[in-house]
Amino acid sequence: MNPATKPTEIDQPTAHLRLVSDRAGSAAPGITLSGVSKTYRSRDGDVPSLRPLDFHINEGEFFVVVGPSGCGKSTLLKMISGLLAPSTGEILVEGEPVTKPHGNVGIVFQNALLLPWRNILSNVMLPIDMKKLPRNEYLPRAKALLKLVGLEGFEKKLPWQLSGGMQQRASICRALVHDPKIMLMDEPFGALDAMTREKMNVELMRIQRETGKTVLLITHSIPEAVFLADRVLVMTERPGAIAAIYDVPLPRPRSLDAMADPAFTELVQRIRKHFFTQSALD
Ligand SMILES: Nc1ncnc2c1ncn2[C@@H]1O[C@H](COP(=O)(O)OP(=O)(O)OP(=O)(O)O)[C@@H](O)[C@H]1O
Ligand SMILES: [Mg+2]
Repeated sequence: MNPATKPTEIDQPTAHLRLVSDRAGSAAPGITLSGVSKTYRSRDGDVPSLRPLDFHINEGEFFVVVGPSGCGKSTLLKMISGLLAPSTGEILVEGEPVTKPHGNVGIVFQNALLLPWRNILSNVMLPIDMKKLPRNEYLPRAKALLKLVGLEGFEKKLPWQLSGGMQQRASICRALVHDPKIMLMDEPFGALDAMTREKMNVELMRIQRETGKTVLLITHSIPEAVFLADRVLVMTERPGAIAAIYDVPLPRPRSLDAMADPAFTELVQRIRKHFFTQSALD
C-alpha cells in the first residue's frame, strides 16, 4: 500500500477525517478549464448546455458554483470527473488532461446512486474495492464516516430501506472513504433537512480545512455557497457561462455565526441580484 494513502488511527469521534492529503504535488495542481463547452447532440436536435468556460480552481481551494436549474452545472462536474467528454476545450486535473474517468476524485452525485444489491457499508466501501485497497484498513474509516453522518446502525441495511436524505449521506461517505485529493459534489445536501444540512456544512468545511482537499461543490443555495466557499462562481442561464466569480471575504475557521457577518449578508445579496428574475434559487 502506498504509505501516503494509509488511513490514520481513529481515536476520537471525528479523528477519522483527519487524513492528510500529502501525496506528491504535480506540475499544475488544481483544476484548469480552457475553452470547455458542451452541446448535447440528440435526434431532436442539439442542446447547447455550456458556453466556453475558462477558469482555474486552486489546489486546496473550496470552490462553489451556483446557477439556475438547467444551466449546465451537473454537466460541468461530469466533464471534470471524466464521465462526459467536452464538445470543445481541455480540462486539466493535477496537470493531467482528462480523457476518461479517473480515480483522483471523489464524487457525490445529485442523486445518491447507491448500488441496490449492496448494503450501506458495502456501498461506502465501493471505491476501496474498485481501487483494490486493503479492506481491513479502510473498514474502520467507512464505519466512522457513517457514524459521523448519523447512519450508525444502518450499515447492514439495503439502500431502499433508507430515506432519500439518508442515502445521500451514505453517498457522501462513499466519496470520502478513499481520501481523494479532489472532491466533486453536486448538490450534496439538497435532500437533507435544514439542521442536518448545517451540520454537514460545518463538517465538510472542517474536513476540507484539515485535509487541504480541493472541493468543487454545486448548490442552489446562495447562503450555503457563501458560507462554504473561498470563491463563488455564478453562472448564467443555459447555455451556462460565467456571470461572475466572487472572493468570499470571511475569515476561517468559520462557524455558523459567520452568517450574521455583514460581509456575508452583503455578498449573498450581491449574488442574489444575478438571479433577480429566477425563483429556483433561495
Ligand atoms: N444527456 C443529455 N442529453 C441531452 N441534453 C441534456 C443531457 N443532460 C443534460 N442535458 C441538458 O443540458 C442542460 C444542462 O443540464 P445539467 O444537468 O447540467 O443542468 P444543471 O445546471 O445541473 O441543472 P439542475 O440545477 O436542475 O440540476 C439542460 O438543459 C438539459 O436539458
Ligand atoms: Mg444538476
